[in-house]
Amino acid sequence: MWFFRGLLLVPFGFMAPEIISLVLGRPGSVANVSASTADVLGTSSLLLFVMMLTVTPVHTVTGWRWHLILRRDYGVAMFFTAGTDLTLAALTTGDTFSGGPLGRIAGHIFLVFGTLSVFLLLPLTLTANRPAMHWLGGHWKSIQRLTYVLWVTILIHLGFLFGLSSIFLDALAVSAPLALLRVPLVRRWWHSARKTRSHRLLRVGAALALFGLFSIGYSQLVHELATKGTAAFVQQPPRD
Ligand code: HEM
Repeated sequence: MWFFRGLLLVPFGFMAPEIISLVLGRPGSVANVSASTADVLGTSSLLLFVMMLTVTPVHTVTGWRWHLILRRDYGVAMFFTAGTDLTLAALTTGDTFSGGPLGRIAGHIFLVFGTLSVFLLLPLTLTANRPAMHWLGGHWKSIQRLTYVLWVTILIHLGFLFGLSSIFLDALAVSAPLALLRVPLVRRWWHSARKTRSHRLLRVGAALALFGLFSIGYSQLVHELATKGTAAFVQQPPRD
């Protein structure tokens, strides 16, 4: 459990040297953060979102419950990571986007969807606790369903950025199995087949195919984070 929780610190570990330089006002620090923030914190936010979305399908397929608490942990960590991305973008990306702080977070359609995604995380995070759950009663589930809107706004953000290529395709590859395993019919079938121990071969085959597709997208995203994160850590971000 603590290994999975430890992963939540990775984005800030990568960005720490650049952020410290920024706070200390070192030369070049604004340009470095400007070049890194979306790459490192954007990719991290996406990976955290994917990990959060993976919790329920893993329960559907395996029946495990020990990991369910990670859904909240990853969601809250995503809020802090994406919130930091938005803050740093508003402060530092003047070399790329004109129009002051507002232009830097909403000056292009893809920026609007990135910013909107962060704002959608606000109600999700504020209500990710037991007191809020009791207080909101039946409305709690409706608020948590904003996760699906967030899923769409993130895909639109990436669609506008990358078109039908690279990271957008990776995001689709990880999304497809996670979406399929949420379809009520599929979910109910899997639950009951697991409980009655029927259709074993079909379940193993389907799980392998879905895991294979997921892994293709996920490994590319991890590779992206490792490359851009390491460059940010040594304060040599690629300026493309
Ligand atoms: C939940 C929120 C967000 C997610 C999941 C997300 C995800 C991503 C991902 C995965 C990338 C590709 C990174 C790469 O090329 O290595 C990206 C790029 C980018 N994002 Fe976001 N993003 C989010 C919010 C934002 C916000 C709030 C802004 C700014 C206001 C923003 C601005 C950008 C920009 C400018 C790029 C292009 C970076 C480049 O290619 O150099 N994103 N985002």
